[in-house]
Amino acid sequence: MPTNARFRPLFPIDASPRGEPTVNLCFDGRAMQAPVGCSVAAALLANGVSTFRTTPVSGAPRAPYCMMGACFDCLVEIDGQPNRQSCLVAVAEGRQVKTQAGLRSFDGAEAVVSGEAAHVE
Ligand code: FES
Repeated sequence: MPTNARFRPLFPIDASPRGEPTVNLCFDGRAMQAPVGCSVAAALLANGVSTFRTTPVSGAPRAPYCMMGACFDCLVEIDGQPNRQSCLVAVAEGRQVKTQAGLRSFDGAEAVVSGEAAHVE
């Protein structure tokens, strides 16, 4: 099944038609720009990124589907935090974004499994 992104930018990503300023961000070591106020998912798609994460079981590539926080196919690591829904996080100057490979744990997971109260920040 093809997994190429079906999103195409309507304008060059570094030249917003409304003249908004842009910010610089980095995805897996690749520098890119995006208009202030757009989501990380929109910025990555507009810069040609088609794989945001891979699934824990088969390793199949995934990319944003709903763009509204419902499908979780847009999970990436943002500024060192895994499991971030990139469609719900705005771009910011210097953001470091990475592909999320497979399953990620979160702080407090062991406490939840053992029945203790979890402390997740
Ligand atoms: S694209 Fe569906 S949750 Fe982000």
